[in-house]
Amino acid sequence: MTKRITFLGIETSCDETAAAVIRENEKGSAEILSNIVSSQISEHKNFGGVVPELAARAHLENIEFIIKSALDESKISLDDIDGVAATAGPGLIVCLTVGLSIGKSIAAFTKKPFVAVNHLEGHALSPGLETNIEFPYLLLLISGGHTQYLIVKDVNHYEQLGTTIDDALGEAFDKTAKMLDLGYPGGPNVEKFSKLGDKNFFKLPEPIINKSGCNLSFAGLKTAVLRETKKINDNKQMKYNLAASFQNTINNILYKKTKIAVEMFKEKTNLKHVKLIVAGGVAANNSIRTNLTKLSEEMKIKTIYPNIKFCGDNAAMIAWAGIKRFKKNLVDNVDVQAKSRWPLDSKAPYMKGPGLKL
Ligand code: KG4
Ligand code: ZN
Repeated sequence: MTKRITFLGIETSCDETAAAVIRENEKGSAEILSNIVSSQISEHKNFGGVVPELAARAHLENIEFIIKSALDESKISLDDIDGVAATAGPGLIVCLTVGLSIGKSIAAFTKKPFVAVNHLEGHALSPGLETNIEFPYLLLLISGGHTQYLIVKDVNHYEQLGTTIDDALGEAFDKTAKMLDLGYPGGPNVEKFSKLGDKNFFKLPEPIINKSGCNLSFAGLKTAVLRETKKINDNKQMKYNLAASFQNTINNILYKKTKIAVEMFKEKTNLKHVKLIVAGGVAANNSIRTNLTKLSEEMKIKTIYPNIKFCGDNAAMIAWAGIKRFKKNLVDNVDVQAKSRWPLDSKAPYMKGPGLKL
């Protein structure tokens, strides 16, 4: 019998302090021995967004307890793990450094291999925690910091098909929630209050909908929400209508752009049977899931969503990416540094800033 690899994973790239112990199972997916996530919602609530220094301090205060809890719950001692994985980027350097330093120290003292994980690869491989999915697949990664269509060819092999040219989708949800005063965290609240509103009340712009392939843009939509917010004078029902119209516009954009991404995937891979994985924090949104499921039925493709607990930031996906990389000998030295920017496809053009050609 081949040995099943077990990893400790650590995640501190933004506002979740998380640790998990994950072991491969016989089906090629994962046994979750523990998965502890401590969210910092209360720390950032009053500011309506993540404050880097406060986040870093909270990570520092919590990390030892979280790692100890993950180890206790897993009933695995440090001696019995095969390696340590920690998120090394992209994200806030002051936050990343907390988890990365402690991960490197644990690996060094226990003389275990260390894997520096790209947070985006964690999201990209996260469905593998539950089912063994063969490569290649199309990934729609929608989180607070990133919005991308990628071909996931293998572990460590990605081709970007499209990306946002301005705000990330989660950021657009969070800013809309802030403008409408719907509370923090923004995304889940926009989803919640949208249920009370008329999604066809406001006609909002769908930026670059008919150009630039499957690249996306949300800044113009955000500005339109701000303009309408100023007109509605705190009227509760109008706020719900605006939240619902915003979410509906997002769904229209994702529908159209995902259709284009699926065609690009088919053309580049010569595959007829497409698997679409929707991952990242925003993939928890049920109206987005329903919308993309409708598209996948129409296009006869298979769409897979990770369990909600693996959509938002967690360390199970980091440990899992660590195991996958370790098995390909992609281990790192303990002098590896945190990176604020770290694209999965290093050859993809940088799609932000002035002079951008669409
Ligand atoms: O992946 P994630 O936990 O962190 C990053 O890597 O950025 O994603 C967080 C983002 C936040 O912007 C949050 O508002 C959004 O995911 N989000 C949602 C929902 N749940 C979380 N957006 C829309 N609807 C939701 N239900
Ligand atoms: Zn994330």
